[in-house]
Amino acid sequence: MLSAKSLFQEILDDDESFALFCSIAASGESQGGWENGRIAALVPRSERALAPKITRHGADEDKHGRIFNALMKKRGLEPVPVPSETDYTMLLEKHGIGLAHEKLKSDEPLTVQDIVIYLSHSRVTEQRASEQMDLLRRHFADHPDIGRAVRMISDDEDNHLAYCHEELLRFAYAGHGRAIQRTLRECALAEIRIYRDVSLAVMDHMGRILGWPRAKSAVLAAGIHAVYAYERFLGWRRMVSLKTPERRDALGGSATTAPEFA
Ligand SMILES: [Fe+2]
Ligand SMILES: [Fe+2]
Repeated sequence: MLSAKSLFQEILDDDESFALFCSIAASGESQGGWENGRIAALVPRSERALAPKITRHGADEDKHGRIFNALMKKRGLEPVPVPSETDYTMLLEKHGIGLAHEKLKSDEPLTVQDIVIYLSHSRVTEQRASEQMDLLRRHFADHPDIGRAVRMISDDEDNHLAYCHEELLRFAYAGHGRAIQRTLRECALAEIRIYRDVSLAVMDHMGRILGWPRAKSAVLAAGIHAVYAYERFLGWRRMVSLKTPERRDALGGSATTAPEFA
């Protein structure tokens, strides 16, 4: 039977597909880490209090990147090149979602509007990260090789999402509500498209590596299109709502480490 669990189990069981999965994940995580590190360094003076949380956010993403690399190493696998059509973070940046890398590479401090854009972008992408890790946690939390990594990353992504809700609400109360709603909407509609395209590209590569019959690939592609249709119609709204999270100040402390991985 074709299920998320059986699909991922197949990818996990084969060295080549596992290396591709981990390489794609590691590259996205470390790009996220770099972006957050730069944003923390360029925070405007009036938002100084936010800098340690952004630093922590970046440190978590860097840690996730190292964890995925360590999972490959544990199996004696080397990272493989990430095909550009599967590079979610790069494609988002290319489509003008979030802050441009040009801006992050410069030494000009960011504006409060930039911080609102960063948080809105993160609110959308962290929702995706949190849902995807939650799916893995549901099926593989007790897996002997990846269980611990999955639980740790999933927990972090939940924290990131909670932090975005909390900080965006604070900015909304401070008068940025309209800008936040506009940015969230634009970002969510672009993200669901890019997520669809990246999912199709990843499944295409996995299908070739694992020798999937044409019918199986067709069913999977139809599934991805169906998810997009639902997200375009209704699902995107879950990515633009704001509510006070159960976990407050989720990025308040210092970053947790994963010494057994990195
Ligand atoms: Fe992450
Ligand atoms: Fe995250």
